[in-house]
Amino acid sequence: MKRSLRLAISIAVIAGVAPAWAQDASQGALVFNQCRACHAVDPGARNKAGPELNGILSRKAASVSGFNYSKAMKEAAAKGLVWNEQNLSAYLESPDTFIPKGVMAFGGVRNESDLKNLIAFLKTQN
Ligand code: HEC
Repeated sequence: MKRSLRLAISIAVIAGVAPAWAQDASQGALVFNQCRACHAVDPGARNKAGPELNGILSRKAASVSGFNYSKAMKEAAAKGLVWNEQNLSAYLESPDTFIPKGVMAFGGVRNESDLKNLIAFLKTQN
């Protein structure tokens, strides 16, 4: 990295200004407001229209007991789908592309920094 760039980043960090590409869980909490109608994350979270999402990063797909997943999601899980960062990003960016015939009625988070912040937020929810 060029010295001047490194310096600029240090200054931004010291000033408390996150560089535009940094992941920000607190911003992600706001993005998650789009999900709250259907998903809960907190101790004791219950399933709503969608399954609770505690500890979703590294969770096996379709693994919340008592939630009625689509056939498509169960098939993906049977093939070994785990919600690592990469898979989760791809799913949340475009649910219908990642799990065709899945039943999550959500268009997707198309803005790249919103998506990164959302993942950063979900990482903090165990
Ligand atoms: C209109 C309701 C709805 C909204 C809004 C919604 N979801 Fe979902 N979500 C679902 C349903 C229903 C499923 C189950 C999908 C299936 O079985 O095909 C699901 C599945 C998931 C899964 C897979 C869970 C697992 O246990 O395998 C994740 C992760 C997820 N949603 C995250 C999100 C996030 C993050 C948002 C917001 C950006 C969101 N969803 C918005 C209804 C919703």
